[in-house]
Amino acid sequence: MKKLIAGNWKMNGSLAANEALLAELAIGLTKGLAANPNCDVAVCVPAPYLAQVQALKSAHPGLSALDVGAQDVSAQSAGAYTGEVSAAMLKDLGCRYVIVGHSERRQYHGESDALVADKAKAALASGITPIVCIGETLAEREAGRTEEVVKRQLAAVIHANGHCISEIVVAYEPVWAIGTGKTASPEEAQAVHAVLRAQLKAATDQSARVKILYGGSMNAANATSLLTQPDIDGGLIGGASLKAPDFLKIIAAAHV
Ligand code: PGA
Repeated sequence: MKKLIAGNWKMNGSLAANEALLAELAIGLTKGLAANPNCDVAVCVPAPYLAQVQALKSAHPGLSALDVGAQDVSAQSAGAYTGEVSAAMLKDLGCRYVIVGHSERRQYHGESDALVADKAKAALASGITPIVCIGETLAEREAGRTEEVVKRQLAAVIHANGHCISEIVVAYEPVWAIGTGKTASPEEAQAVHAVLRAQLKAATDQSARVKILYGGSMNAANATSLLTQPDIDGGLIGGASLKAPDFLKIIAAAHV
């Protein structure tokens, strides 16, 4: 299956910095290291910059294949929800993807498995692919609960979305690996991905379409060993997606 490399800019960027980063990516995607990538590439940017990124996409032919995503979406469709952004609004701004259930939102905003499942449903209803993040904390891993935790998180999304589950992207992001420089070994990541693949297979006969990304300190140096695992279909990249040369190297590693 075609791999997906998605950048998660988190709460970083500015009009000037975004322009510089995308100009560098445009050059790389046109004639540099990652020219003609045989993988899908996306950047998930802060909501206020979605329109800017779309405009830059139109300005740089090198970015024509770049997909744009958001980092969160409301589970509600419209109305009195101050501060929220709906899936229809993201669709209006040309979003192809939206990250839901990132561990930073589960941790700092108290998002439950059920809310994350509803957000995935709202995205799907507007024709946006949710990138559903799941992953265990260090304490859960050390207690031998990794499998139980990720299966519970994914089960909530399967339960709420029925046959539409084949339209989602899953991102396995062990919480202890995010932004820490500590990556799951390729074998550790593959073991969890295989569990998730089996769970998806039991839920839908279209499971072969579902990409399972790895995220958590993926970088230019470790990307190849992770992306060559049989059940790792791409990456969700935080820190390294803010540096064009690193992001381009990861893209290049995904299409060998
Ligand atoms: P990281 O973040 O690559 O900086 O560890 C990944 C993520 O949180 O999506």
